[in-house]
Order: sequence, then structure tokens, then C-alpha cells
Amino acid sequence: MLVLLTAAAEDAAVPPPDPPKLEAIQLAAPRTDAGMPLMKALKERRSTRSYAETALTDRQLSELLWAANGVNRDDGKRTAPAALNRQAVDLYVVLPGGTYLFDALAHRLEPVKAGDFRKATGGQEFAARAALALVWVADLAKLSDLGERARSVTETQKIRWALIAAGAQSQNAALYCASEGLGNVVRGSIDPDAFAAAVPLRPEQVVLFAQSVGVPGPVPLAR
Ligand SMILES: Cc1cc2nc3c(=O)[nH]c(=O)nc-3n(C[C@H](O)[C@H](O)[C@H](O)COP(=O)(O)O)c2cc1C
Repeated sequence: MLVLLTAAAEDAAVPPPDPPKLEAIQLAAPRTDAGMPLMKALKERRSTRSYAETALTDRQLSELLWAANGVNRDDGKRTAPAALNRQAVDLYVVLPGGTYLFDALAHRLEPVKAGDFRKATGGQEFAARAALALVWVADLAKLSDLGERARSVTETQKIRWALIAAGAQSQNAALYCASEGLGNVVRGSIDPDAFAAAVPLRPEQVVLFAQSVGVPGPVPLAR
């Protein structure tokens, strides 16, 4: 009995391990004069559902995010349009080591939470295998002070604006993937509650959709 009590007391004295610390990732400057011709990229654009367990290179990660919604002008405006230029869409980047938020102005990934949450972005088998998942989340707080317009802009309209902007960003990312020989697939089947449970979101944030990106795996044999 005494032995058991001593062991229990020792267990209680051991502090839980610290969660791994996630550092911000400064992305390299993207090459903006490279890639395949636009018409060829459009011809190559397709959904991919087979992935190798291979990470993107630092350059590919940087360029993917710049293509999606990076700054392309001196005034800070982006590669994708945004209603009233409010940038009311948060782009989460779910990597094996942790989840980050894309800060387009600094071209940086800001840490959100350590751990692999790719599975929390969707139940399809490849979602946990592809190099990363992008998750688009509307931040309705960024559309809250619309002044005179406020009366005529409903919550539904705000979600529509965010979805239009996120759709444009997603297609930019898809065309970059086509140009770079990477696979991608947009996934509307993300469970918003599962993602919000894994990566805490604020009440004003609404999960829109996910997109897997990665190095394509073997093509399944046709039966
Ligand atoms: C709004 C939307 C939701 C989608 N959701 C999923 C999904 O949850 N899982 C999936 O594997 N593909 C999903 N897709 C991809 C479509 O299945 C795919 O685009 C379609 O089959 C046409 O194939 P393609 O993209 O190769 O042209 C989605 C596409 C859109 C536009």
C-alpha cells in the first residue's frame, strides 16, 4: 500500500510536458516571373486525390500562398479580389507540424497551434496524407463596421462576399499547382465543427472550405 501511495505521489509531482512551441515562418520572396503560361496551366488544372507523403519545398509553399492571395501591388492589394478590399477571409495553412495563419502583408505564416490537424480538415483518406491543407475561413468581424452601407448588407451577403473572394484565392492556388506539377483538390466536405474544435476559432469566424495540396501519388489502376 505504502509503495503504491509513494508511486502515485511521484506521478503527481511530474509536470505535464510543455506543448511544442511553434515559431512563425518567414516565407521567401516568390518568383513572380516564372511558371508555365497561363493557358497551359488552365489546360492542366484538375482535382487530384492521390498524394505522396512528401513536403512542398520552401519555395513552393511561399509561391503557393503568394499565388493564392499575396500582395502584388505597392498599395498592398492582392492577387485575388476582395469585397471593399476588407480582406475578410482568413487563410489557415495546416502543415504536419502545426497550423498557421497566412499574413499576406508580411508574407509570413503566423503560428496558431502545434500538432498535425490535417485529419481535422476532412474525412477523405488523402486529406491526412497530402503535404498540407488550406482552410478558408470568413471573418465577419472584418465586415462589421460598414457605416452607411451596414443597413443594406445582410449576414448572408457578407458570407457570399467571403465565399467569392475565397473561391478566387483557391483557383489562384489551383493554377499555381498546375504550373508546378503539384496536386490539389477543393473540399467542401470539411466538417466546420471538427476544424473549429481542433484550431479554436472566434464566434465571428465561419469555416468555408478546404483544399488539399501536395505532390501527386501513384495514379490508381483503372479496373
Ligand atoms: C464547391 C466544391 C466542393 C467540392 N468538394 C469536394 C470534396 O469534398 N471532396 C472532393 O474530393 N472533391 C470535391 N470537389 C471537387 C470536385 O469533385 C471536382 O472539381 C469535380 O469532380 C470536377 O473534377 P476536376 O476538378 O478534376 O475538373 C469540390 C468542388 C467544388 C467546386
